[in-house]
Amino acid sequence: MNSKIKMLNEKLELSKLGGGQARIDKQHQKKKLTARERVLYLLDEGSFEEIGALVTHRTKDFGMENQKFYGDGVVTGYGTVNGRLIYVFAQDFTVFGGSLSETHAEKICKIMDMAVNVGAPIIGLNDSGGARIQEGVRSLGGYADIFYRNVQASGVIPQISAIMGPCAGGAVYSPAITDFTIMVQDTSYMFVTGPNVVKTVTNEEVTSEELGGASVHSTKSGVAHKTSANDIECLEDVKKLLSYLPQSNKETPKDLEFEFQEEIRSSLSEIVPENPNKPYDMHNVIEGIIDEDSFYEIHKDHAENIIVGFARLGGKSIGIIANQPMFLAGVLDVNSAKKAARFVRFCDCFNIPLLVLEDVPGFLPGTDQEWNGIIVHGAKLLYAFSEATVPRVTVITRKAYGGAYDVMNSKHIGADMNFAWPNAEIAVMGAKGAAEIIFKREIVSADDPEAKWKEKEAEYAELFANPYSASERGFIDEVILPKNTRRKLIKAFSMLENKEVNRPNRKHGNIPL
Ligand code: HXC
Repeated sequence: MNSKIKMLNEKLELSKLGGGQARIDKQHQKKKLTARERVLYLLDEGSFEEIGALVTHRTKDFGMENQKFYGDGVVTGYGTVNGRLIYVFAQDFTVFGGSLSETHAEKICKIMDMAVNVGAPIIGLNDSGGARIQEGVRSLGGYADIFYRNVQASGVIPQISAIMGPCAGGAVYSPAITDFTIMVQDTSYMFVTGPNVVKTVTNEEVTSEELGGASVHSTKSGVAHKTSANDIECLEDVKKLLSYLPQSNKETPKDLEFEFQEEIRSSLSEIVPENPNKPYDMHNVIEGIIDEDSFYEIHKDHAENIIVGFARLGGKSIGIIANQPMFLAGVLDVNSAKKAARFVRFCDCFNIPLLVLEDVPGFLPGTDQEWNGIIVHGAKLLYAFSEATVPRVTVITRKAYGGAYDVMNSKHIGADMNFAWPNAEIAVMGAKGAAEIIFKREIVSADDPEAKWKEKEAEYAELFANPYSASERGFIDEVILPKNTRRKLIKAFSMLENKEVNRPNRKHGNIPL
């Protein structure tokens, strides 16, 4: 047998290897897995089918003719995760730094096309130095072919990117277009240009970690939706995320078994403090409402004044958007509005109902916010909710002030069911500030201005610092006791299950980007 045929046959044996956890032992917990190990760990045992294992690049420049590796730096194919079909590619950093050649790109495009045509998620395990420098414009073209497909697939099939090594140049733009980016702590970086180029152009000295490590992207920039401690945890995070999602926009997420019982949660009555200015952790409200241990938080450490994530409620997958009074009193600002808007749009694309838990004193005032465009970024959230056609339910747990009342899934912008707890305050602003403005003259001319102010504050609070004025107009459908919230929500989402909304025909809207 000639040596080339022998090598190809060996390769064939390799691609038949089974997958699954059993093949990865504990010692891998701290170091990077190989591309193939990652694929095998992600997929159900024995389910991986490789496509294009024998592909090689076609470059002759820079002596590349003599440096060919089967697969050309990327493992591609399909298999199942918990029995559901997915398509996957894993870049191999040991082959030219996982860089993307024309053929490497063709392999990825091939499975992307299949994923869209069949209607199943695509998972990218990224570890790449970007466009293969030796190929010039051919590799740039390859990236553009992928970006184009990422955009065409957006809103059709879920696209998830795991960043499992250094990713530079074009290697970061494809993940940026996908729905979720999960980074591995300490071993992954994302940047458009690396530290060396930064030093040359701006004379700034910065390490890879400082420039684009997982901590930076999960806190400051918000580029990463989640950070995992190591490769194994990252792949587990991908699997868990998939469990909340449907295969495509033509389906709804799979329900888990659930039997409706009493569904009363008394602990919910203890969370909101009597003093309206005291903070509390909205995570406790979320945990009190949803099925046990089902919360999967997205963007946990970025814009912490709003919480977003997936959960199960009565076995059904839902998306939660909740103001967090523990951070900046739960105000809306530039980053929280962008974070929430993107999440709302994802859920709407993939038929995942939305639950909003609202305790918001308004938009954050100040030059920093205005100069950074809070007007346009706040409008994104308003737009995202207004265009969403999935079932949408809101619970006001305390404050719903000003423009933020409108924006946070009010009835006026298309929410289906809006509840309020008895202590809710639904008004243009807090009673103290409101009294100061509208009773200014009376307060100033009073013998005891301080006492007058207090009197007027109480008058305003009596009128508006409650949920009943809004309920009289039908802006709130029902005032409910906190302990009944889970029960009411399960029933409301079940009632809304077959909701259908037809929008006027148009090419697409023009969200204020
Ligand atoms: C070809 C590459 C490569 C690339 C790395 N390698 N990047 N080969 N094309 N883009 C090769 C290296 O030559 C080396 O080969 C091996 O991969 C490992 O790289 P190291 O530098 O030794 O590894 P490390 O120190 O870990 O640094 C990783 C890195 C760095 C941060 C990714 O390699 C780097 O900065 N690469 C260039 C990144 C970049 O500028 N890409 C942009 C391309 S332009 P040997 O043989 O020595 O092992 C682009 C534009 C797209 O992507 C436009 C989209 C809008």
